[in-house]
Amino acid sequence: MTIKNEVWGSRIGLILAMAGNSVGLGNFLRFPVQAVQNGGGTFIIPYLVCFVLMGVPLLWIEWSMGRFGGKRGHHSTPFILNSMSKGSLWKYIGVFGIFTNIAVAAYYCYIESWTLSYAFHSIKGTFAGLSQTEVAQYFSSYINMSTSFLGIPNEAILFFVICILINTYILSKGLAGIEKVAKIMMPLLILFGIFLAVRGLTLGTSMASDQFPLANAWDGLNYLWTPEYDSLLKPGVWLAAAGQIFFTLSVGMGTIHCYAAYLDSRDDIALNAATAGFTNEFVEVVLGSLIVIPIAAGYFGLDWVKENISFGVAFQSMPFLFGQWGDVMAALAGVFWFGLLFFAGITSSLAMGTPWMGFMRDEFGWGKIKGAVSFGTLTLLLGLPCVLFYQYGFFDQYDYWAGTVSLVIFALAETILFAWIFGMKKGWKEINDGADLVIPGFFKWVIKFVTPLLLISVFLGALFTPEANNWIAAFAQFSAGEGWPLDNNSLILQLSNSGLKESLALATDATERA
Ligand code: PHE
Ligand code: NA
Repeated sequence: MTIKNEVWGSRIGLILAMAGNSVGLGNFLRFPVQAVQNGGGTFIIPYLVCFVLMGVPLLWIEWSMGRFGGKRGHHSTPFILNSMSKGSLWKYIGVFGIFTNIAVAAYYCYIESWTLSYAFHSIKGTFAGLSQTEVAQYFSSYINMSTSFLGIPNEAILFFVICILINTYILSKGLAGIEKVAKIMMPLLILFGIFLAVRGLTLGTSMASDQFPLANAWDGLNYLWTPEYDSLLKPGVWLAAAGQIFFTLSVGMGTIHCYAAYLDSRDDIALNAATAGFTNEFVEVVLGSLIVIPIAAGYFGLDWVKENISFGVAFQSMPFLFGQWGDVMAALAGVFWFGLLFFAGITSSLAMGTPWMGFMRDEFGWGKIKGAVSFGTLTLLLGLPCVLFYQYGFFDQYDYWAGTVSLVIFALAETILFAWIFGMKKGWKEINDGADLVIPGFFKWVIKFVTPLLLISVFLGALFTPEANNWIAAFAQFSAGEGWPLDNNSLILQLSNSGLKESLALATDATERA
């Protein structure tokens, strides 16, 4: 079977597509939550260390694996990994890099669909004049499927389907479609983000009133950007930081390999990968921390933010806070905010569709339309439990198993393959072939030893997370001979008593009662 290979149209298109792959809902919805919940300034140092010692090395590894496999006609991880070693084990590990994407896309596209709907409602003025409680209630009605749009009931399902159709349509246009979308959406996203960030930065102090306490937007920023060094000794914070780096860079999933498989064989990797990675970090640590946190802190105060932060705040509170700026500004800010989230989301969910399509094309000669439609259908089917049983925690289960655990396992496996089986000598050559950037030799050593060791620690840390994530207390108890107190969230307990089973039981109960 010979199908003509696709390649990226231009270098800028490639970088924007890769940046679009990484820049996603994670930057705006997940990062602020992780940062605040893990102590603000306490989070930032482990986060940045993980970026340099784990994130960047993994980007280089995945880009060069992708280009290596692409040269040999492979565009998804099973055969990319397979082409780097003898023995067929790696093929099966590579399968993760297809299915994880479909599972993540299922819940990811669901949130993406909320942002689309909320952008329309911002224009329609649905939130105008509503109180904070009413905006929050609107969100609950939305996810309980009791809101309608233009007279069509079950709005949440409607938008989920629309969103999948849009993804399917763009994917059916192949690489060129993805590249075009990224070239339009990424600059707009950054523009919208800067607009909102400037607003967050200039909000200043709001006087106490019957609605609001005395509050200052800068409290939020200070909380985030006053580093605290004692966090270096808190494994729980490290775990959260590493998890965020994985999710935000899209490493450990197979999407980066897949995009890189469409590189030309002599295209630069060193500089392109670093540029895409740094673009993601700019959007995350600059734009991602200058919107929700300061704006919420500017009205409700920092204590409220610390107590209430969750990714729902973007939907439950932001429209109400925008409402403080008058109807026109509120509509504009709403469109910018939800539009930005939609652009961030869709350029990532498109990436999740490509490994499946590449695999079906390479192995079975499936065309783009067949590939895209089958991906859309799978995502829809897998997403429905999330949509229908949102309140039973299905969503969190998907995020945990597909969006967190498998990324770490996959990344660990591929690092071992790259640095130890394929070998660092050949690996380093792959990374530097055609490079427009001289990578410090120090990274050769990092990739060989530091990255895998960090990954192993992250994995062990997740496996044996102690009660309340309190490692100091756990070690004390352990050395006193009283055993290791496992947390219910530890991977090992989750594996033996899968939360998925629980959610399933809850949902079946509820369906039976209904
Ligand atoms: N990096 C994306 C985000 O920050 C999520 C993603 C993960 C996208 C894996 C593609 C693959 O939201
Ligand atoms: Na990201």
